[in-house]
Amino acid sequence: MADKAYLCTPKKTVKLQVFSEISALRSFLAPLRSPSRPIGLVPTMGALHAGHLALIAQSKQHNPLTVASIFVNPTQFNNAADLEKYPRMPEADTAMLQAAGCDVLFCPSVAEMYPVPSALTMDFGNLNRILEGEFRPGHFSGVGLVVAKLFNIVQPARAYFGQKDFQQLMVIRQLVSELCIPVEVMAVPTLREPDGLAMSSRNLRLTPAERAKAPVFYETLQYAQAAIKTKKPWSEIRQEAAMKVAATGFRLEYLALATQPNFQLTENVTDSQPKVLLIAGYAGNVRLIDNLIIE
Ligand code: PAJ
Repeated sequence: MADKAYLCTPKKTVKLQVFSEISALRSFLAPLRSPSRPIGLVPTMGALHAGHLALIAQSKQHNPLTVASIFVNPTQFNNAADLEKYPRMPEADTAMLQAAGCDVLFCPSVAEMYPVPSALTMDFGNLNRILEGEFRPGHFSGVGLVVAKLFNIVQPARAYFGQKDFQQLMVIRQLVSELCIPVEVMAVPTLREPDGLAMSSRNLRLTPAERAKAPVFYETLQYAQAAIKTKKPWSEIRQEAAMKVAATGFRLEYLALATQPNFQLTENVTDSQPKVLLIAGYAGNVRLIDNLIIE
């Protein structure tokens, strides 16, 4: 009689395949890609956290093969110190992807992605001129460029992006729509720490004192949402929000209200159009962003 334990199906652990060269990745993926075997892509800049893993988990649910990319993309950094200080932890990231059951990791060098300095720039119109577009000149051009490259390299059927970077998500949607890229853009809700702080690789750069106060950005969004419901004028909400952030010693860069889905800045708190609140500020030297879709 067969041993019962022997009859149990062993837990299948698939080894994460790691590529740093475009040609090797393309050769590996070509025979695996088909309409009945779609590829899911999760682009990241590494220093992975549970927010990134939520994207991987979604992709794994929808696609038989998930590719994650880790590339700290220089063309999207408008600040040299921010690029230099961006956390890099390849070993921990690889272990997390392996544990999450991701199939493939693409982690190219800068020379592999940009063999010659890129001359191409992208202007996303309104998205380029307001909020992140205004405060981080050139940022969305770099994001658009690298994501377009990743789409061409991996040729996924679906690609996963977090709502945490709300404006970025809209940039990607515009990129795909204007360039007729056959990729379905999937949005994943923001994952937060228990105290409300949106998970972010940049949180690693906060001092313990800054980390303790960092939930103020989410609290300010929640305060603004509640105030909008009482129809308090936007100018007052903004002023009170600025005071709330200033009380922690942090600097508010913007608190803004934008209409959905066309993303126009508005101060109208009385109409019924769907809206999103967006915030950006500095906790010490660390720039944090967050947003809240108004229910
Ligand atoms: P990165 O900041 O590493 O984020 C990678 C993806 O994870 C983005 O789609 C982002 O919105 C998502 N993400 C980050 N924090 C999250 C959270 N708390 N909850 C849910 N999703 C979260 O965004 C980038 O990298 C880059 O700009 C990139 C798109 C990779 C282009 O270089």
